[in-house]
Amino acid sequence: MDTEIKYILVTGGAGYIGSHTVLALISKGFTPIIIDDFRNANKDVITRLEKIAKQEIKYFTTSCQDEFRLKSVFSLFPIHGVIHFAADKAVGESVENPLKYYDNNFGSLVSVLSLIKEFKIKRFIFSSSCTVYGDPKEIPVNEESPVSYNSPYGFTKKVSEEMIEQFIASQPSVQATILRYFNPVGAHESGLIGEEPDGKPNNLLPYITQTAFGIRKELTVFGDDYDTPDGTCIRDYIHVEDLADAHVAALENSDNNISNPIVYNIGTGKGTSVFEMVQSFEEITGKKLPYSVGPRRPGDIPEIYANADKAIRELNWEAKKSIKDAISSAWKFEQYIRDKRNKE
Ligand code: WQD
Repeated sequence: MDTEIKYILVTGGAGYIGSHTVLALISKGFTPIIIDDFRNANKDVITRLEKIAKQEIKYFTTSCQDEFRLKSVFSLFPIHGVIHFAADKAVGESVENPLKYYDNNFGSLVSVLSLIKEFKIKRFIFSSSCTVYGDPKEIPVNEESPVSYNSPYGFTKKVSEEMIEQFIASQPSVQATILRYFNPVGAHESGLIGEEPDGKPNNLLPYITQTAFGIRKELTVFGDDYDTPDGTCIRDYIHVEDLADAHVAALENSDNNISNPIVYNIGTGKGTSVFEMVQSFEEITGKKLPYSVGPRRPGDIPEIYANADKAIRELNWEAKKSIKDAISSAWKFEQYIRDKRNKE
């Protein structure tokens, strides 16, 4: 029996996708170690993770930009692999403050890769995004589709992928896996962790749940005059628990890959429109959602969804949860977090 403890460093492990991945790792027998500076996450997430996992979870509070402090964490454990989530991710903010995005997203990646090299770590998983496909000419997109960017945030993801490629060319003993996520939605089935945007949400489902809860007056649908069946934009919404499982699958497959770095689309392969999301929310929760149609949001593309066949084939992974699961879990989490904040 293999009794070796498999320590996985999870940067940004208290964040939305990171926290769900920590739970997925534990359920598969790995020992996650969270590194987070809590700039976009609540410390209380750790307590909630421990409650769900029924075990203590190790975490260290540091920015990944601080290579000196980060090194002190890397030196504590024999590390089996690193999953690097820590990054800024708000598209609009990146347009207003691109330097913040270069500084954090590139700076953090450089220090993490330097330490991977120094400590001879063999497995590296990187959070990328479907944003690297820009406004695709052909849909669904596969991993060979042309890449571009529409924002400084998208630029950091595209360039980070290239940085990893160049790093790996000099350091082939590290296996890097790049996961291009489509639109992550939903919350953990416990209802205790989920997406907790600071202030007004940018993303659709948190905006919907906050509106239904009465925190926002109404949802603005950003344009209904796109060339799509109902005029609203189409996205590939993937349940965050499925997304978390993809990281574990990528880690488990790290020793069998046929290319390095290897890139996977992580999506459902199905497109859903904004109106379909609103309608599903109303059907599932029985609540009427106040909304109006406004102008298009600058930078939005009409339609994108994944061809995720490569991940299905090679990682033995597949999105199992539905939009219905995502909406009901997000709604459960919204109610939990509001109740909790009211009591604080
Ligand atoms: C979804 C749809 C909006 C809010 C972003 C990033 C992308 C990736 C996923 C990380 C769009 C519409 C939204 C609202 C609306 N993230 N909408 N009213 O823009 O597809 O992708 O998250 O890498 O890089 O750009 O996600 O949730 O903001 O929007 O009508 O109040 O909902 O126009 O069609 P998006 P989103």
